[in-house]
Amino acid sequence: MICLLGQKVITWHLFGCSCYLISRKRRIINLIQDKLESIKNSKEAYRRMVEKSMLVSRLQQLGRHFPEAPLNLEQAPVRVAVTGAAGQIGSFLCNFIAQGRMFGPYQKVILQLIELPQAEKVLQGLVMELNDGAYDIVHEIIPSTDPMVGFKDADVAVLVGARPRGKGMERSDLLSANAKIFQAQGQALDKVAKKSVKVCVVGNPANTNALIASHYAPSIPKQNFTALTRLDQSRAASIVSERVKCPVEDIRNLHIWGNHSATQYPDTFHADIKSQPLRSVVKDDAWLDGPFLTKV
Ligand SMILES: NC(=O)c1ccc[n+]([C@@H]2O[C@H](COP(=O)([O-])OP(=O)(O)OC[C@H]3O[C@@H](n4cnc5c(N)ncnc54)[C@H](O)[C@@H]3O)[C@@H](O)[C@H]2O)c1
Repeated sequence: MICLLGQKVITWHLFGCSCYLISRKRRIINLIQDKLESIKNSKEAYRRMVEKSMLVSRLQQLGRHFPEAPLNLEQAPVRVAVTGAAGQIGSFLCNFIAQGRMFGPYQKVILQLIELPQAEKVLQGLVMELNDGAYDIVHEIIPSTDPMVGFKDADVAVLVGARPRGKGMERSDLLSANAKIFQAQGQALDKVAKKSVKVCVVGNPANTNALIASHYAPSIPKQNFTALTRLDQSRAASIVSERVKCPVEDIRNLHIWGNHSATQYPDTFHADIKSQPLRSVVKDDAWLDGPFLTKV
């Protein structure tokens, strides 16, 4: 009797021990699995960090400023539409955007490239070039000859496509050639782009074209439209810097009055070079009032 009881106690004891061992083993396996998972995650985080710092250093070498890494790296790509993408400025711009020089090295982009039907082949060539670049931040490229497709859901639109100024053409001549283009693009933006779209007009006369596009896109706030009109000021500064052999950043307050047209006037009377009046440094009023104005 005593012997039978002893056997039962031992059996229960052994059963209890093995249950304990099994649950312990399971806990150890779970622990190991957790550890492996965290090593995998930290390896992934490390890989991302290295990848990011490579992009950052690449941009630093290019001398560019860029935003801090966003906390949420998985944020949605920015849809950026570029018209005249296959042209001289457009194709440079597309490469810059793909390199992260517009939205920073962390922000993915969807390039929506718009061209005229006659430039479709050149556009295809640009797309091949961009694909060859295998840019990390390019999420997708959508080439199109239809503004309704190209502007669809755009967050940003850069309107480069326009007729460039031909020989002997006044800037005002350009206006009539380009007014129709910017009317059609304003209407297309109004219909298919996001209502928050930010539009930068580059095609000249840029500020007037921006006004036309904005007029034909009444559902998009006026303040979302801007134009690239810095060119004349930068050109004036670089001409003076070349003349007096000084760095461009030494030239301050060299303003342009008037429109981006024959009415423009680069004001050298209020400008200075290293805190000295610009005209007294240049010491050539005839040049400043003649060839300089014409060149700008
Ligand atoms: N704002 C500035 O600082 C600045 C500086 C330089 C040039 N620009 C202007 O930028 C524009 C482009 O210059 P570029 O040298 O690249 O000219 P480009 O001729 O090399 O390229 C223009 C491209 O626009 C395309 N295009 C024309 N109409 C179009 C339309 N309706 N829709 C889509 N694409 C269209 C053409 O097919 C062409 O590929 C010109 O108007 C030029 O005056 C502005």
